[in-house]
Amino acid sequence: MAKIALFFVSHDGQTEKIATTLSGHLHALGQEVALIDLTCHPDPSKLAPEVDVADFVIMLAAIRYGYHLKPAERFLKHFKDRLLEKPLAMLSVNLTARKPHKRVIENSVYLRKWVERHPLSPVLVRAIAGKLDYPRYRAFDRFMIRLIMRMTKGPTDPTVTIEFTDWDQVKELAEEIAALV
Ligand SMILES: Cc1cc2nc3c(=O)[nH]c(=O)nc-3n(C[C@H](O)[C@H](O)[C@H](O)COP(=O)(O)O)c2cc1C
Repeated sequence: MAKIALFFVSHDGQTEKIATTLSGHLHALGQEVALIDLTCHPDPSKLAPEVDVADFVIMLAAIRYGYHLKPAERFLKHFKDRLLEKPLAMLSVNLTARKPHKRVIENSVYLRKWVERHPLSPVLVRAIAGKLDYPRYRAFDRFMIRLIMRMTKGPTDPTVTIEFTDWDQVKELAEEIAALV
């Protein structure tokens, strides 16, 4: 049985929820999955055994202010040589992906820049919509996210929480990955 290593990094919990769901779907499809939270591993070099044993690597990372969370960037940099030797999926969690056309690299500046920043050859690159949670944000973040939402015609009511994640897309991604393993 092929081994999948699913590395994820979340700040507010939505990426973790997506990681758990994706892992559940992969299990149901008969795959063996190791779910690894990068925030628990500040030193990427310690994760070499998990990378080496994997037949397929998934990187699932949330975006804040245009950049994927640092542990994901550190991980991709640290393992650039080893990751060239095995199939890799790069999955980005952000709010622009609430618009379905923004989930593919052709229409996503975030995905394009992410792939450009790392000299890797991912077999799958996608964006998944995250969660908007105004009440949870600090005043500055709430102000900034409302500004971004105003510019992109999204919700600006500072009292709302909206889970934009398309759970059918997460299931379809699991099927796509299982077919690539
Ligand atoms: C401070 C902050 C900055 C964010 N910056 C962006 C951004 O630049 N682009 C975007 O599409 N989404 C942005 N988001 C939305 C997050 O990517 C989204 O809420 C995601 O679900 C966060 O994942 P997490 O809950 O795993 O941390 C931002 C969210 C916060 C709180």
